[in-house]
Amino acid sequence: MKNTLLLLCTCILSACHVDIETQIHELTEQMTLEEKVGMLHGQTMFTSSGVERLNIAPIKYADGPFGIREELETHSWAPLRLTTDSATFFPTGSALAATWSEEMARLYGKGMAEEARTRGKDMILGPAINIQRIPTGGRTYEYFSEDPFLSARLAVGYVHGVQDNGAAACIKHYALNNQENNRGMVDVRVSERAMREVYLPPFRAAVEEAGAWGVMAAYNKVDGSWCAENEMLLNRILREEWGFRGMVISDWGGTHSTVKSALAGLDVEMPGGRFFGQALLDSVRSGAVPEEVIDQKVANILRVRLNIDTVEETSHETAVSTPEHGRMVYEIATKAIVLLKNKDDLLPLDIEKHSKIAVIGDNAIRKHATGGIGAGVKARYEVTPLEALQKKIGDRTSLVFARGYESFSRKDRERGGILGGVMLTGTGGMLSGSATAGAKLDETLLAEALEAASGADLVLFFAGNNREVETEGADRMNIILPSLQDELIKKIAEVNPRIVTVVVTGAPVNLTTIEACSPAILVSWFNGSEGGNALADVLLGNVVPSGKLPFTFPVRLEDSPAYALKTYPNFDKALYTEDIYVGYRWFNAQKIDPLYPFGHGLSYTTFGYASMETGKEIYDTREVIKVTFQLKNTGNYASEEVVQLYVHRPESNVEWPEKELKAFKRVSLAPGESAKVTLEIPAERLQYWNETTDEWVPDPGKIELLLGTSSRDIKLRKTISIRS
Ligand code: BGC
Repeated sequence: MKNTLLLLCTCILSACHVDIETQIHELTEQMTLEEKVGMLHGQTMFTSSGVERLNIAPIKYADGPFGIREELETHSWAPLRLTTDSATFFPTGSALAATWSEEMARLYGKGMAEEARTRGKDMILGPAINIQRIPTGGRTYEYFSEDPFLSARLAVGYVHGVQDNGAAACIKHYALNNQENNRGMVDVRVSERAMREVYLPPFRAAVEEAGAWGVMAAYNKVDGSWCAENEMLLNRILREEWGFRGMVISDWGGTHSTVKSALAGLDVEMPGGRFFGQALLDSVRSGAVPEEVIDQKVANILRVRLNIDTVEETSHETAVSTPEHGRMVYEIATKAIVLLKNKDDLLPLDIEKHSKIAVIGDNAIRKHATGGIGAGVKARYEVTPLEALQKKIGDRTSLVFARGYESFSRKDRERGGILGGVMLTGTGGMLSGSATAGAKLDETLLAEALEAASGADLVLFFAGNNREVETEGADRMNIILPSLQDELIKKIAEVNPRIVTVVVTGAPVNLTTIEACSPAILVSWFNGSEGGNALADVLLGNVVPSGKLPFTFPVRLEDSPAYALKTYPNFDKALYTEDIYVGYRWFNAQKIDPLYPFGHGLSYTTFGYASMETGKEIYDTREVIKVTFQLKNTGNYASEEVVQLYVHRPESNVEWPEKELKAFKRVSLAPGESAKVTLEIPAERLQYWNETTDEWVPDPGKIELLLGTSSRDIKLRKTISIRS
């Protein structure tokens, strides 16, 4: 019965597939060349045309990646200022990544798709899945992780979530868009192995496993060719190797040629038609671009169009951000918060024991849905930490707020030299995220902060960046906390050393001073509409923190690879000479201790790891390595733990990082409860890219499996072998 049903489903699916391909063929045959070319470029800022005569609707795009962007004017970035286009602000990329949960990524994608559909959008311009190569990268907060495997799992979850709920996902920015400064011109030079093993895996997984319908070509060049006209990236890797069947669009203003882009595999130029309008028509007529190439592009678009139902134009008049979406972003936000440090169990706060708490720092009242350059969300609401704390604490204790420092503002950023025309040209300027020499703390704000701190039992210090510091179009010049926050915390610590610091950031910041001054530290990210509520619940112990760092917090910026090797900043070529040693792979290889390592995150409870087994000692290259162990909640709080499985090769002839993440799982346990946990690594996942033979090959021999609670806190080990 089950088999018959399966057969029936498979038949229906393949009939559907054939049907769509037949439909595509029939539709293309009826189109004029002008109609076909009309589909290959932007009609407005966020649509590309269909063919009305044949009932082919336009494709409507929406930024992405952390909320459905407000409506803009037809041909400019100016908002329409409607009252009906607000949306839910989802935690940004690095926050989602800190959940280490494919399930949360799926939920995220579902919420985004539902809001996109209500607003009449077909394709979400997200997820943004580039690897966080430099800590200063302007879009680190949008991206997931420095690790390819973690990024890949989240990308798969997000794309499934979107596409199982009726919208198309457009993964971006393909590929190697790892810096914002000079992003429109920089030429990335990377070894084939590093590209395959570090930078491409999230894109590959999103295409091969999740069937992403859209790919956005990045602004930069790779190996001398802009990504929107890069034969190797588009035709060869994406389509031939990974079997991508959807549509490739350029980043906004990222197309640079007609014939070269058309032949290399770009389908749609966005947002205008400078290269893929009349110029493309002329190139077909002159024979420079064969009409079959145009037909293929039309087919790629139709394949998406016919798989995504069109939505009524008027639908954005319905409320988009629902209470259910509020619950979704709350759940994601709670799992994202990372407890870095908790000396003497200062957290959770025992409210009854404190008669006065000082809340200090502009980030306690700052909203992060918009700011800087690029996509933001006109959030229906965003709860700040202070609002949430006031509501949840009520009159149980007295909360005194002091702003402490001036927020880093748009003006500060402009003084830092952002170049004009950044959005369309795809180039960016420099940004100083730090205090300028000679700057001083505002005396009134400082006095208020010290007064609040000295009379309190405890200080909640809100440090971190904001969306003017971290922005599209510009990297930070360093990772120093803006607005002289380090100076401020030192002064506060002199009057009250009981400080819990909450770091609001999307990217690594230098926490050495914060670390020296705070017995407890949390990272609470740009954490979405419910970020304040999630944080307050973690501080008060209503929720136990379970997030883990998706990237390394270095002690000094110069410890990180591209800075150590002085290959960044750059303005012409970006030489990725650190090769496969990105993020924690570099710190391990160089034996540099980070301040907080990749994968780190504490809990209010404790966990015991025991009895690691693999069933077998020797595996075939096609088998799945199964690791089981007992995880026990040995503390007093129900909580979740993210268990992490790394591999180390004790005696290989191939060069490998000291350890690499290959599996992870979020496990929920009540106090005293234990569970048998299984993690799986298909042996194929352990292959490397052989640059001599240009292919993935196994590296038989011993593999040490390292099971831990972070990349630097390994609890159990076991060695197995892969048979040659
Ligand atoms: C960004 C993309 C974004 C597009 C449309 C570009 O500047 O790089 O991520 O989707 O603008 O807003």
